[in-house]
Amino acid sequence: MVEPLNPDLLLPCNVQDEPQVNDMFAAIQDKWGKLDILIHCLAFADKDFLTGDFSMVSRSGFNQALEISAYSLIQLSAGAKPLMVDGGSIVTLTYLGGVRVIPNYNIMGIAKAALEMNVRYLAAEMGPMGIRVNGISAGPIRTLASSAVGGILDMIHHVEEIAPLRRTVTQTEVGNTAAFLCSDLSSGMTGQILYVDSGYCIMGM
Ligand SMILES: NC(=O)c1ccc[n+]([C@@H]2O[C@H](COP(=O)([O-])OP(=O)(O)OC[C@H]3O[C@@H](n4cnc5c(N)ncnc54)[C@H](O)[C@@H]3O)[C@@H](O)[C@H]2O)c1
Repeated sequence: MVEPLNPDLLLPCNVQDEPQVNDMFAAIQDKWGKLDILIHCLAFADKDFLTGDFSMVSRSGFNQALEISAYSLIQLSAGAKPLMVDGGSIVTLTYLGGVRVIPNYNIMGIAKAALEMNVRYLAAEMGPMGIRVNGISAGPIRTLASSAVGGILDMIHHVEEIAPLRRTVTQTEVGNTAAFLCSDLSSGMTGQILYVDSGYCIMGM
């Protein structure tokens, strides 16, 4: 059974608010003195740029999507690194739209491409400290964030028709893979992107 979150242990973390992020890491240092796991599970792009022509994205829309969705992994990993004194595991969430053109994913695809390359550079830097960095490329799931992407329901139905497992994945399946990546069962893995997408990515359509 999953324990409910203790609200007293929640720390605010708006990645655009540098002092708040610093305060969060300081609070972790004060209370626990170390960190074992960082799950980077956030993304944002202006809804206006998640539909229509990709080339219509503005400079500010591009910068905002990349800052919140990709730079934040570097920012949070840098904050976590000195706290991961016994090694650690950093996991981020990405999507197939970072390596292939997916209708309407647009600017978020560029952000995910940057995020996936961040995984490799961070893994190379932090491996000698015993810190592993990996990504999970999840199939489409209806959430608040994904609802902003135009045609998300069509994408989900497409996966149900095409993917080898003939269904989409669940949040639990993605969470189970994150648990695997944070455990010693994956101790030999770093810098990888694991696809949890019912096998959709192997198909040619
Ligand atoms: N839902 C999908 O189909 C799907 C598929 C593949 C990957 N992902 C990825 O999974 C991750 C989680 O998304 P989700 O679909 O579970 O949606 P979600 O709406 O549950 O999560 C998005 C989170 O981003 C946070 N966020 C946005 N701006 C932030 C900021 N400035 N600072 C800190 N946090 C901020 C929000 O508070 C929210 O908790 C994202 O990286 C998303 O791209 C989702």
